Amino acid sequence: MKTFETKTFDIPELKGISKKSIEEHLKLYSGYVKNANNVLAKIAELSKDAENNAYVIGELHRRFAFEYNGMRNHESYFASFQGGAKAIDEKSALMEAIKKEYGSFDAWLSSFKGLAMTRGIGWAMLYYDRNDSRLIMSWVDEQHLGQLNACDIILGLDMWEHSYVADYQPSGKKQYVEDFFANLNWEIVEKRFH
Ligand SMILES: [Fe+2]
Repeated sequence: MKTFETKTFDIPELKGISKKSIEEHLKLYSGYVKNANNVLAKIAELSKDAENNAYVIGELHRRFAFEYNGMRNHESYFASFQGGAKAIDEKSALMEAIKKEYGSFDAWLSSFKGLAMTRGIGWAMLYYDRNDSRLIMSWVDEQHLGQLNACDIILGLDMWEHSYVADYQPSGKKQYVEDFFANLNWEIVEKRFH
């Protein structure tokens, strides 16, 4: 059976987010990869007696999007730090798309930061909607509830408490969002948009 592989990331020293937090967070990421594989393996195994295992198989199918999207969300998050902080290229296609959709980069940034402060655990997402060739922002509860169909993640910001509480305390959520942008390598985000 084909399996998902845990990716490795070359993450430099970050502003605000400690090495220890990243190490612990990467362990959570590999848990999603492992469980995405486990769910599919378990469904295959139980399907040998599908009739008797129908209820459990159904529950595993329901579980899969949580594990799979948890894996993909984290891959986009960690990749965004690779290579160190780099500002957005004023002349990039992404910058153009942001201006077209939100008026200005600052207007988008302020709106995205607001999105990130949504109460609860989940993700602040910037997507590209291929169907209508436009950028869309959305909040994702947990790892999967609210992901937009047929949209690609351009930028994903993990707003689960495990990503910031150890370094910032619960009250430092806003500073974590600020530091995420201070650490972001826009070149990677621009490439993803391409
Ligand atoms: Fe996370």
